[in-house]
Amino acid sequence: MYNIAVIPGDGIGPEVIKEGLKVVQAASEKAGFKFKARHFDFGGDRYIKTGEILPDSAIKELKDMDCIYLGAVGHPDVAPGILEKGLLLRLRFELDQYINLRPIKLYPGVWTPLKDKGPKDIDFVVVRENTEGLYVGIGGFLKKGTPDEVAIQEMINTRKGVERCIRYAYELTRKRNKEKKLTLCDKANVLTYAHNLWQRAFKEVGEEYPDIKQDHAYVDATCMWMIKNPEWFDCIVVCNMFGDIITDLGAIIQGGMGIAASGNINPEGVSMFEPIHGSAPKYAGKGVINPLATISAGQMMLEHLKEYEGSRMIEQAIISLLSSGKIKDLSTKSGYKTHEIGDMVVDLINNM
Ligand code: IPM
Ligand code: MN
Repeated sequence: MYNIAVIPGDGIGPEVIKEGLKVVQAASEKAGFKFKARHFDFGGDRYIKTGEILPDSAIKELKDMDCIYLGAVGHPDVAPGILEKGLLLRLRFELDQYINLRPIKLYPGVWTPLKDKGPKDIDFVVVRENTEGLYVGIGGFLKKGTPDEVAIQEMINTRKGVERCIRYAYELTRKRNKEKKLTLCDKANVLTYAHNLWQRAFKEVGEEYPDIKQDHAYVDATCMWMIKNPEWFDCIVVCNMFGDIITDLGAIIQGGMGIAASGNINPEGVSMFEPIHGSAPKYAGKGVINPLATISAGQMMLEHLKEYEGSRMIEQAIISLLSSGKIKDLSTKSGYKTHEIGDMVVDLINNM
């Protein structure tokens, strides 16, 4: 029996999470495992009402769960940065979810903006460092608001943090057993301290993985190759900030925010799974958002729990739905209601 914490969040978060849970439920019945979902109402509405974003007691409770299923955070009446830092980043940091795993996989039947590229060309995974780099929030202002203002934002890279991320990426590349190629994406030609550390750790840890080819690309060039030759990539390991940027690029080549999912992973602790898209407040309550990205995050969650059968069923259902051509578009113009897409995935699983 798994204990799953569910944080539906803001905007369309609750709508898509509902469908995600429905699908996980169908997979659990079919594959024969059980879970209990416990809902937490953190997000913009609660913050506006109570001033509370994420109480310390909740962090403690979440640490006792098997994993977390998150919808989306972001509220039009809350200044940008507050919920992102206070909820999403705080969870990632406090639960030490040091990997942000973002598969970039184009499913058959899904439109990609890349001309002449198809599912066999776009199938790689980005391992983004998730607890350090420019995201640590260390810095400050001097003489704020004056013409002499100084703003400093520190980029922190620890040997331990970099090494554990790189080691995870080597392990994953081996487990994928595809090209057995790991690309380090950095900017070591300019960030001659921070990314020099990444380069040394990459080489040194790589000695433990003689079966994995070591590859390198600067982040600017990575953006270019992801468009021109996405088939070159098998697994990419990258720092937090650059990983954030290249995975939006990755999301669009796999069909966009309507399908991109991610896992915030602490291999030794509690992990959290979420769609990459935001809370899209203007569509909240309209039932027009396609829930496939959240359903896909649910699939990653089952994979992480080692419920491989259930995970495989969900992915199979997503693939057959998308390749059926029924869903014209992964945006709000799919032609279906949010719950109808959830129902179709559930039906496909029930009929397996
Ligand atoms: C993401 C998001 C977050 C990030 C924001 C909302 C803090 O863009 O998950 O990619 O930058 O990590
Ligand atoms: Mn992002």
